[in-house]
Amino acid sequence: MKNNFEIISEVIRKRRTVKPSKMNGNIIPDEQVRQLLELADWAPTHKHTEPWRFIVYPGEKARKFVSDHAELYRKNTPEEKFKNEKYEKILANGNNLSHLVICVMKRDAEKRVPDIEEISASAAAIENILIAATSLGIASFWSTGGMTHTDTMKEHLGLNMDDIVMGLIYLGYTDMSYEGKRVIPLEQKITWK
Ligand SMILES: Cc1cc2nc3c(=O)[nH]c(=O)nc-3n(C[C@H](O)[C@H](O)[C@H](O)COP(=O)(O)O)c2cc1C
Repeated sequence: MKNNFEIISEVIRKRRTVKPSKMNGNIIPDEQVRQLLELADWAPTHKHTEPWRFIVYPGEKARKFVSDHAELYRKNTPEEKFKNEKYEKILANGNNLSHLVICVMKRDAEKRVPDIEEISASAAAIENILIAATSLGIASFWSTGGMTHTDTMKEHLGLNMDDIVMGLIYLGYTDMSYEGKRVIPLEQKITWK
């Protein structure tokens, strides 16, 4: 029997970015998406600000969000900068996905801790989602593409300007398997003193 370290190592190593174009259209039960978010909620948080917020779009609503996203790009990009390729790329994210979860860092009204800590805590919550998804055989894609980091997106989502859209998390299933790679040797990232 595997011990806890072996189990968690396997899941962490197995997590891979899988874009919606490589998903197969199968649908995740809403209850499982909720389970992912329950684990996200256990991320570390300084002063219990618990800054992560999740906007969940199942199925058709996810596709509608994706097409709205593409239109936001079209409407808010000056003609000379608009690229049809990019428009189509945003739109293609609606194909084959099951759910879209938008993760937002909700800025604490009293600003009890610095921004960087709230961003860090929210990123940790996202990683919990990705790892938990992997353990359930769910494929995921954390994207900050398109209009994600714009004020236009904040307005579209009804957020405050000091909130931050941490990413669009596309969830679904895939029939493909992916090898991960790391390009910088671990030794170069560690300094033992
Ligand atoms: C904060 C963040 C934002 C990302 N945004 C994008 C994105 O907009 N488009 C994209 O193709 N991949 C995006 N990725 C996914 C990375 O490209 C991917 O994680 C990387 O290729 C490593 O692959 P792996 O996740 O399978 O290890 C993002 C990853 C992170 C952590």
